[in-house]
Amino acid sequence: MAILVTGGAGYIGSHTAAALLDAGRKVVVLDNLSTGVRERVPAEALFVQGDVGNVQLVYQLLTKHAVDSVLHFAAFVDVEESVQKPEKYYANNLEHTRKLAHAAYVGGVKHFIFSSTAAVYGNPTQVPVAEGAPLAPVSPYGDSKMQAEDAVRKEAQQGDMRFSILRYFNVAGCDRKGRYGYTIGKPTHLIRRGLAVALGRAEYLPIFGTDYSTPDGTAVRDYIDVTDLAQAHIGALTHLEHGGKSDTYNVGYGRGYSVFNVHSALQRVTGKKIPMRCETRRPGDPASIIADSAKIRTELGWVPAHDDLDDMIESQYRWELSQQKDAA
Ligand code: UFG
Repeated sequence: MAILVTGGAGYIGSHTAAALLDAGRKVVVLDNLSTGVRERVPAEALFVQGDVGNVQLVYQLLTKHAVDSVLHFAAFVDVEESVQKPEKYYANNLEHTRKLAHAAYVGGVKHFIFSSTAAVYGNPTQVPVAEGAPLAPVSPYGDSKMQAEDAVRKEAQQGDMRFSILRYFNVAGCDRKGRYGYTIGKPTHLIRRGLAVALGRAEYLPIFGTDYSTPDGTAVRDYIDVTDLAQAHIGALTHLEHGGKSDTYNVGYGRGYSVFNVHSALQRVTGKKIPMRCETRRPGDPASIIADSAKIRTELGWVPAHDDLDDMIESQYRWELSQQKDAA
């Protein structure tokens, strides 16, 4: 039996594929390399270049490799871009998920794990936010993921395919052995943008909004290490394999850091002065979002091992430095 990992050439997908392989699983990666990088696919995985919306190809893979579980990561993830190009997000994140979930159900897949996001909550009225909180995404990205969650639930309800939906908070850090990292082009997320300044690739870090109703006026996020997130997937899969019920889980640590906190940590870790410039708010950004992660801890026994912002940033810094060396 094999596990199909879509988006396994991407940031979270490659880390999770590696964790599955480390746990002795057989992994088939399906990725169209639109943002993923071939070299990031773990060497022991079978790699197929293609689209998750290509139903024929998906059926072939399910049958040929006796796939009983699908982990679906392939998606576009840039909140700001989703505001500018919503149709791109609905086509890939929603329609392709719908097709993949349908193909999985028809193809006899037993377990489906879907990468969702805290962006489905929008601006939560209460933080930490629990899974039962109202869903009110404020960006097309969040909305496309919310609707894709529904598509997965609907397909699963038709038969005996069970699912876990994991809502990630702000994912950061890299493999501590330096094998995988965040590779795609232009950095858009806070930590990568800060590191780009530290590495001399950008002049300053823009601070998007200093007038939020948060302790220091900048937006607050729950930064979670990618290796802990990979383990959350393994926990969710094991749960389903042991007959556990379909469910939705937040994956975050339950504490928040402001943009200014992250800026200070970036300077501390890199030992560099990172100039910043205060700008207006970025459209689609909630003020504060922190996970209530009691459910995944209790029901899946998830025990994070890397809840340390400086350590997360350091692993990313090392990764960026290693990539710079490779390019030289
Ligand atoms: N920010 C800046 N300057 C930058 C980049 C970001 O001030 O150069 C701010 C943003 O405005 C935001 C915070 O830093 O307030 C974090 O922004 P990121 O772009 O790093 O991450 P997001 O919070 O926008 O999005 C991420 C994931 C989503 C997920 C969300 C959940 O990309 O998938 O976290 O909180 F839904």
